[in-house]
Amino acid sequence: MRRLDQLLSSLGYCSRREAQGVVKDGRVSVEGVVATRSDQRVDPHQVTLDDKPLEAPDGLLAMLHKPNGYVCTHADGEGPTIYELLPSRWLSRNPAVTSIGRLDKETSGLILITDIGPLVQRFTSPRAEVEKTYEVTVDHDLDPALVATFASGQILLRNEVKPCLPAKLEITSLLTASLTITEGRYHQVRRMFASLGWQVTALHRSSFAGHTLDGLKESQWRLLPQTS
Ligand code: URA
Repeated sequence: MRRLDQLLSSLGYCSRREAQGVVKDGRVSVEGVVATRSDQRVDPHQVTLDDKPLEAPDGLLAMLHKPNGYVCTHADGEGPTIYELLPSRWLSRNPAVTSIGRLDKETSGLILITDIGPLVQRFTSPRAEVEKTYEVTVDHDLDPALVATFASGQILLRNEVKPCLPAKLEITSLLTASLTITEGRYHQVRRMFASLGWQVTALHRSSFAGHTLDGLKESQWRLLPQTS
């Protein structure tokens, strides 16, 4: 059970003080009965605001189709951020939402967004070996021998001593391939190709931890069941 004003503010709907007005205006119901006090204790699942259940009261998990040109930081000054594409109320949640890992500014595709701290740890821990698949376009014809090279677990990135874990490369045309990796090193896909003499000219993430975009259009987001 949680205090109603605290609950509404932690889910980003309004400040605790504003909750008083929201309740006074008759916009909140608890178990179908219009609430009268903002300090009453409630089961978050029994509360509606403007006749709608509260959004993700136990923690929010969503997928976003990140367009090229957007950065995954909260900071200004590096261009538009993915947070501009999300409902502003998500940023007012406490804790606020954050991305699970990051994509480069010039990478498009699937990125998960959450306010559930342990989920971020779980998906970004190197030990978790979460599978991520990227659609890669390169600057000159791919060599079929690359499939074995990526699978070998011997690709060394510049300035690093530990080789990358084996990765699965599927060549889909002369200049395109799908690459599945289980690590998340800085600029990893671009650097893996660069170490072998290819420049990545376009990069798109099509899958992350078994999630796929499933027709989700660029700049759009979709809530996911929290357990997935
Ligand atoms: N690898 C990269 O090089 N860039 C990304 O954005 C993701 C993986």
